[in-house]
Amino acid sequence: MHLLKNFVYSVLFLLIVVNFSCLAKKTDPSKPKYLPTTKDHKSRRLANKKLNCIRFSKNCFYYNQDLTPQLENTEVLGYITPWNEDGYEFSNLFHSKFTYLSPVWYTATYKNEKIDIGGGPNSEWMGEQESLGKERPYILPRILIENPQLIVNKKLCEEFKKKIFELLSKNPKFSGITIDGVQQIEFLISKPFINFLTDVSKYFQERNLKLILATRIDRQITPTEKPLLLKISKLVDKISLMTYDFPANQQTQALSPLFWLEFIINSLLEIGINPKSLMLGLNFYSRDIPHTHVDIKFYSGNLLMSLLKQKKPKLLWEAVSHENYFDYNDSKGIHHRVHFPSPYSLQTRINLAIKKNIGIAIWEIGQGLPCYFDLF
Ligand SMILES: *[C@@H]1O[C@H](CO)[C@@H](O)[C@H](O)[C@H]1NC(C)=O
Repeated sequence: MHLLKNFVYSVLFLLIVVNFSCLAKKTDPSKPKYLPTTKDHKSRRLANKKLNCIRFSKNCFYYNQDLTPQLENTEVLGYITPWNEDGYEFSNLFHSKFTYLSPVWYTATYKNEKIDIGGGPNSEWMGEQESLGKERPYILPRILIENPQLIVNKKLCEEFKKKIFELLSKNPKFSGITIDGVQQIEFLISKPFINFLTDVSKYFQERNLKLILATRIDRQITPTEKPLLLKISKLVDKISLMTYDFPANQQTQALSPLFWLEFIINSLLEIGINPKSLMLGLNFYSRDIPHTHVDIKFYSGNLLMSLLKQKKPKLLWEAVSHENYFDYNDSKGIHHRVHFPSPYSLQTRINLAIKKNIGIAIWEIGQGLPCYFDLF
């Protein structure tokens, strides 16, 4: 009886172990492998206007094993979102190419009369970064301001600033923070926000901490706004520009047309903003717009590749926006257009940043493909 019982337990145990190892194995093959190669993207003929679908699909998971940074005087910021976990892996593998990393970890809310900076660091990844040595990037986690009352309401704002300072003293390995959530120029230049930035900036400067402001400045700037935007640029170390999600129109469905990027950068430089405090935002994701404009989708590199595999479309170049795209019809016969970052379109934008002497901010690296990193 006793023996039988033992036997049953052993079988049960075995079943559980086998089940677990099956599960573990199941998740592995679905994950694309990132492979080093001795060839750079030029010899793999990836950075071309004319991009071949099959060549691109076959080569995009390879990266050049020579990880020497390609950009000498251009600072690169990489955002990492915990929900696209490849970002952590890429940030470790390509750490030599980044000046700053901004993991998207915190959300500041005001609920039930309580201010909360929700979220927390990924300690395992922090440890991995530390083991990379001295030349590793600065880590500036992002805080998303969800409720404008945290800035507008004087009392709440005082408390919010205290919470930010507390967060930093609790995490001495952070080099500073990235502030996100204020995207209207009207709000950016409002008195409460400028006061908030002034105080945070003072505290940060005294402690040698860095402050990045992620925002969107994509319309004509009025004469009264100019000096205030200039002032803001002096209160922060960098303005990380969200130069993507261009509204689709008759002319183009591009995500980030080059003419628009040039317009935004030029209008900010004309104010007298130091180019060194600007970062051009590059999207690593793609956008799929159906003809009906219903259910617009965004893809990571992995999803883009499975769509390319399935549809095998002809990859085209749009001269007006300087972006690659393709068309396909879905099973219901609805026409779709997908704009995606290609090595060539990315190179064009990197060249613009170099020409204007500004930095680059990538949203976000986990959505990218290994071949993209060869350019940085
Ligand atoms: C989609 O369907 C339309 C109408 O049948 C056709 O004219 C067009 O060539 C198709 N497009 C693609 C990319 O297959």
